[in-house]
Amino acid sequence: MRVLFIGDIVGSPGRQIVRDRLADLVAQRQIDLVIANGENSASGFGITPRIAQELLGMGIDVLSGGNHSWDRKEIMEYLPHEPRLLRPANFPEGNPGSGLYLGTAKNGVRYGVLNLQGRVFMAPIDDPFRKADCELAKLPPDVAFVLVDMHAETTSEKIAMGWYLDGRVTAVVGTHTHVATADEHVITDVGMTGPHGGVIGMDKEAIIKKFIDGLPARFDVAAGDVQMNCVLIETDDAGPRNASGRLTARSIERLRLRID
Ligand SMILES: [Fe+2]
Ligand SMILES: [Fe+2]
Repeated sequence: MRVLFIGDIVGSPGRQIVRDRLADLVAQRQIDLVIANGENSASGFGITPRIAQELLGMGIDVLSGGNHSWDRKEIMEYLPHEPRLLRPANFPEGNPGSGLYLGTAKNGVRYGVLNLQGRVFMAPIDDPFRKADCELAKLPPDVAFVLVDMHAETTSEKIAMGWYLDGRVTAVVGTHTHVATADEHVITDVGMTGPHGGVIGMDKEAIIKKFIDGLPARFDVAAGDVQMNCVLIETDDAGPRNASGRLTARSIERLRLRID
């Protein structure tokens, strides 16, 4: 089984490269399931119902989120109605939406996607480790493939989650920093899908100015060097399952597509 995970999609340049490249990539690499982080897809901040539908219509099966999931107020009412749009599971009880999605991939395999958020240098939400235990306990035994998007700032918290879930899920990938890492084991950050001509997707002039003067500022999406950063996970379908009866990953490959 081949599963593509696309790193944080930023603004219209990020959406455009997915629209241009995803269908060919899925066909060429015979991909069974596509998951993407969409927390920055609306001008860099949040996601709207219209943009969620647009991305789901491009061949993305599940959208995960992060700290920016809540930026657009219209998403609050929409989240309960679109189970394929996740937000981190460990936000307080009672928040709209869910951090867990169960579905069936193109090849007929039942899968789960779990979205968690770290707490180091981030908002003090519920414990993602205990929350992962609770959410994984909900999975029926026929769920053969499980991917976790650990949305966090530090590599250490992401690697710790990778080890914590070792033997229980198929893959743990990281998002949020927008800078791809070179650790093809637990990928601590998949990187960003959007313009790399700025600072983590936003226009560099305004960011540099804010570092210098410390004043409130408005950030716009950057331009130039648009990349789609993803990872391709291949499972060992014939090999032994892990301790929880799930498919194990045979390989994880970083992919970087460019249009400029
Ligand atoms: Fe992000
Ligand atoms: Fe984030």
